[in-house]
Amino acid sequence: MSKMCGIMGYVGNGNGIHATLVGLKRLEYRGYDSVGVGYKKGGDLVIKKCVGRVEDICRRLIPSEDHSTIVISHTRWGTHGKITDENAHPHADCQGKIAIVHNGIIENFQDIKEFLSKRGHQFKSETDSEVISHLIEEYLKTENSFEEACKKAFSMLKGSFAILALASGEDKIVGIRKDSPLVVGIKENESFIASDIYALLPFTKEFIFLQNYDFITVGKGVVKIENLKEGKVERPVEVIDINLEYDGKEKYHHFMIKEIMEQSEVIDRILEKNNGKIEVFSKEISSAKKVFLVGAGSSYHACLYGSYLLTKAGIDSKPIVASEFKHFEKLIDKDSLVIAVSQSGETADVIEAIRIAKKRGAKIFSIVNVYGSTVMRESNDYILMNVGFEVGVAATKTFTSQLIIFLLIYKSIMGEGFDGRELQSKILDLLGRSRREFMEKVVDYLKEKDHVFLIGRGLSFISAEEAALKIKEVSYIHAEAFPGGELKHGTLALIENGTPCIVFVDRENKDEILSNAHEVKTRGGFIIGISPERDEVFDIWIKIPEANEELTIMQVIPIQILAYLLALKKGYNPDYPRNLAKSVTVK
Ligand code: F6R
Repeated sequence: MSKMCGIMGYVGNGNGIHATLVGLKRLEYRGYDSVGVGYKKGGDLVIKKCVGRVEDICRRLIPSEDHSTIVISHTRWGTHGKITDENAHPHADCQGKIAIVHNGIIENFQDIKEFLSKRGHQFKSETDSEVISHLIEEYLKTENSFEEACKKAFSMLKGSFAILALASGEDKIVGIRKDSPLVVGIKENESFIASDIYALLPFTKEFIFLQNYDFITVGKGVVKIENLKEGKVERPVEVIDINLEYDGKEKYHHFMIKEIMEQSEVIDRILEKNNGKIEVFSKEISSAKKVFLVGAGSSYHACLYGSYLLTKAGIDSKPIVASEFKHFEKLIDKDSLVIAVSQSGETADVIEAIRIAKKRGAKIFSIVNVYGSTVMRESNDYILMNVGFEVGVAATKTFTSQLIIFLLIYKSIMGEGFDGRELQSKILDLLGRSRREFMEKVVDYLKEKDHVFLIGRGLSFISAEEAALKIKEVSYIHAEAFPGGELKHGTLALIENGTPCIVFVDRENKDEILSNAHEVKTRGGFIIGISPERDEVFDIWIKIPEANEELTIMQVIPIQILAYLLALKKGYNPDYPRNLAKSVTVK
């Protein structure tokens, strides 16, 4: 059983249960199928956990008057095995005196389980994580202290992990990280530890970003760090002041629509932080012998877009899906520039790609949204999207910002000016109320359908890919994108009376793509055209502004809105689609 999940801990004078639940709510984007809290009450260790979201545990299991000054907590995203109360974290040892929360995968958990079973340990869950609490229990028999037992237990683990542990007799939390993020938040008389700073921002502006094998002992406002490989280490305290003014859902019902609407501000926000960086990236890309672009999901689609523009600028570049990167390892060398694109900066496949590229001597540049993330830290240089946290699982404003960053780089390489105001007003037009109202018509047509096909050519094909992902992930309708010319090589067999096909039309490919639309319509297909101009082949026409290289932005925004409205119509919560999590920290 492997998980990505979010973890949070608290030691201080205040009510840690309340604090960790606030933090956990902000970590739900990492996983939200079950939730749990472990805390000390008197001399006892209390564990409350259940399948569901943070509000479920609050409503069902934690009395509002419950108070504790030492707490660990967890929100989970399971990849194998069942989503059950028993498999939720924290996990205790046999005697219920030690509790742990874990993010990552313990690869050697079977061997450890066998070792522990022979020594009489009884397991209550099917998780890999549960071995950790029992291993600490086992080593407490021989080691002098809780810390020493934890150290010994952690050093036995293989895989990736961020772990927090507490014990009924201790007034501290012990933790470690290896390949899964962990950040400490500092305040007078209080200490916080979490998977990312987003969970901690309501409490403090001072952070310590832990490195691999950092072993921490956290008390009230006191943090001791020792690296299990290097010994005693000093980690800098970084002050990060992020405005939380726009932090909530505000007037919107969901983060997804709030984040879609925020796309009108994306240009200003990128330029606010990165003016000089765009030049640095353009120069480096222009002079690199080999350029690779790597990302996953929507961020990979942004890589396709970036590569398309670089090709247009006469620069050879190769976009690679992060999880496939190792198969291209031989192409990477010290003359290579690898551009990693990641909203979270914590996607395991992207991090692995970066590490492979670094080993081969490549230079790493990245485009990230989350400040302090692993991708940012492991890069030689980075551009921040700076568009604020994206909470909705579906990437919307961050995808647009990735595209704008590539567009700015392209313009800089070409020595062309960029009219940010013009692009902004086109985006505003696409976000207008009348457009959303019109989209209801499309929703009505699609809501009962099981399949939708999307076609485009060139940049429009990239839009089709991203649009299909948006529809699938929040409305659960099977959506598949093809280059317009590919449909006739097999998939046309699936077109029946009424099969919806979304056709992305652009100036450059107009005749060919419209002819592909006709091929679909002739076989009974229902054509939804996204185009600046009407065409007789369209059954429904979604009008977009005329565009050049910014075309993909213009074409994708209407589908983000469509996907959102479809999810609502079908009764799904678009912020938390089933089976998904925003930050995919497992391979
Ligand atoms: C799709 C989506 C995912 C992410 C992917 C990469 O809407 O959100 O496909 O794009 O998991 O995540 P980051 O960009 O954080 O590396």
